[in-house]
Amino acid sequence: MINLNLPKSFNNLPHVLSIDQFSKDNINSFLDFVSHVEHNQHLFLDSLKGKILATLFFEASTRTRLSFESAMFKTGGQVITVEDGNSSSIKKGESLEDMGKVVSQYADIIVVRHPEVLSCNKIAETAEVPVVNAGDGGHEHPTQALLDLYTIKKEKNNFDGLKIGFFGDLKYARSANSTIKALAKYNTTFSFISQEGFELSDELTLSLQENEYAIHDPSKLEEALKECDVLYVTRLQKERILAQKRSTEFSFLTKSHLKHSKSDLMILHPLPRVDEMDKDIDNDPKAFYFKQAKNGVYVRMALLNVLLAS
Ligand code: NCD
Repeated sequence: MINLNLPKSFNNLPHVLSIDQFSKDNINSFLDFVSHVEHNQHLFLDSLKGKILATLFFEASTRTRLSFESAMFKTGGQVITVEDGNSSSIKKGESLEDMGKVVSQYADIIVVRHPEVLSCNKIAETAEVPVVNAGDGGHEHPTQALLDLYTIKKEKNNFDGLKIGFFGDLKYARSANSTIKALAKYNTTFSFISQEGFELSDELTLSLQENEYAIHDPSKLEEALKECDVLYVTRLQKERILAQKRSTEFSFLTKSHLKHSKSDLMILHPLPRVDEMDKDIDNDPKAFYFKQAKNGVYVRMALLNVLLAS
């Protein structure tokens, strides 16, 4: 078992709230451990026997919740969940802090998704068990970043020297935010291709001091793609933006954009995809998003084992 040495904030517990908690060495050793878990699943069948995961989702989810739950079952643990966070006592006015304290009495680990930025930190403040952020508003989605990097590493072996394009809503997409922060720890360069009003935040752009980056207009997508090793596509985060912005004409990725792309380009997407890419790309060997979704289970099996091992 590896020890990630995550900084033990809030009640001295190893919560996973932001990808910033992970050093490059942490990520490297964690990804090696994920590979070990994926290739030796038989060794982990009972590793979390007797442990209970609570999933608290106050926003829609398919992949994140089900892959965490699947990971828990595959390693011998059990899951309790509130069908929809809003059917819990939060609806009656209970605070997130009280919820953290109470759910800790029933579970050994809590995975939370909530529309408010830093909401998971509030739960972690009072929780008596580790808390994992499964998405807090448009802020962070650290386990998505880990599975994105795992997917890239499986194909490309390492990250140094890679040019990675991010296309779509880069302002509100928490998965892209966390993944960019994780990749920026390596010697990677970036291409950001987004519609006006949906650009990467200044804060994140400014933090990329050591990584070269270029910003492109979506009309130059084909051009920008020529040098990319990976293209990460995100959907418009309709639920996070004002109604008037929702009507923005968004450009979408088509097969013809790929004409001059590298033969080993990987197209990633955290999913769900809506209308930002043509579905006929699915048959292209460059499409990796369904494999990416599958890798979520291995990453979460590994993470649950790391956090619950002690
Ligand atoms: C993402 C999310 O919820 O942030 N989905 C996911 O977890 N795989 C991406 C999205 O909703 O666009």
